[in-house]
Amino acid sequence: MASTPASGNPRPPVPPIRIDFSAEDRRWITERIDEVLANGQLTLGKYGEQFEAEFARQSGARHAIAVSSGTSSLEIILRVLKVDGRDVLVPADTFMATATAVIAAGGKPILMDSDVRTMSTSPEEILRKLTPNTVGIMIVHIAGIVTDAMPAIAQLAKDKGLWLVEDAAHAHASRLDGKHAGTFGIAGSFSFYPTKVMTSAEGGMIVTDDDELAKEARIYRDQGKASFHQNLHVRLGSNWRMSEPHAIIGLRHHSHLEQMVADRRQWAARYDAAFAANDYGLCPIAPPANCHANYYKYPVMLRDGVDRAAVKSWLRETHGVICAGEVYEKPLHEHPALAHLAGPGLEQSQYLCARHICLPMFASMTAEEVDRVLAALADAKAKGLLG
Ligand SMILES: Cc1ncc(COP(=O)(O)O)c(C=O)c1O
Repeated sequence: MASTPASGNPRPPVPPIRIDFSAEDRRWITERIDEVLANGQLTLGKYGEQFEAEFARQSGARHAIAVSSGTSSLEIILRVLKVDGRDVLVPADTFMATATAVIAAGGKPILMDSDVRTMSTSPEEILRKLTPNTVGIMIVHIAGIVTDAMPAIAQLAKDKGLWLVEDAAHAHASRLDGKHAGTFGIAGSFSFYPTKVMTSAEGGMIVTDDDELAKEARIYRDQGKASFHQNLHVRLGSNWRMSEPHAIIGLRHHSHLEQMVADRRQWAARYDAAFAANDYGLCPIAPPANCHANYYKYPVMLRDGVDRAAVKSWLRETHGVICAGEVYEKPLHEHPALAHLAGPGLEQSQYLCARHICLPMFASMTAEEVDRVLAALADAKAKGLLG
């Protein structure tokens, strides 16, 4: 819905996100897709290898393994780590795939609550939820925020003899004290779904410093085959390969990753400055000071009693400001398919999911778009909609 400024000219809406491939990017990509169509090297070829090498270099991991999705990257890691019949700690405030990957690999997810400050979990909560059958911990960097508890969580995992896996689907190029998301534990998993900070259309990436895990992951992603040239299936893998056209798109988008994150951080800083200077009735979920967040999302908490749906539709109808969907609208156990995971002590996750909204955020925003969002929020506050 277009909004109408004083001049009477309707303005295009401020979208929640925008996926950017420049004309030059598109030319680069189509030339290479044409090349692989011509030579027939359509999967597990040189572009996948280049994408892996670039991703490993940029994230500081020894190995990167390109796969078909963020969901398959999680399942591969969990199959390599052998979760069959074991408990795995998973946050309640995450995407379904974090938990379903555990289930698909034969394990049982045990839900952890979140800290409203960082949308992540804490060492104390891990200790509360540990069972004698727990084999590992999964951390999700919601909205691209790496909690400052990561070093303590990694140490706790070591002390307890558990592995730590990061679902870093939101956290490309996010880091804590310079250490990249995905590199705190045995392995990290990324998604390149189109709405992520960078995309390969569909795709995922496993990062690890563990040579054995990397070797096994390559076997699992290609139908559990001992090697590409050998039709001998030594593991129960699947078709989790990344095609060359996907790798070409991902390789190109990845070349802009740091710049796209710098752009997002610039828009986040503009929101931050406005919220620090004036009371909008909102409380941003700010990354810790030592976290270089990628601002996959810019979540803000609403005051208790504020009607989220009403605020979002008013911003859209009155000002043409379209907020993205929530990071997660409900914790996992409130979805019918995962209701059996419900348990006590998940109140913070429920509160977080129910009380936040995500403001428009994407690399190619303009200062004018950010200011339109802020003006719309100021108007909402003045009208009493934000409490
Ligand atoms: C936290 C999280 N984990 C896993 C996934 C799954 O990634 P994909 O959609 O690439 O399978 C997503 C993607 O939406 C996600 O946000």
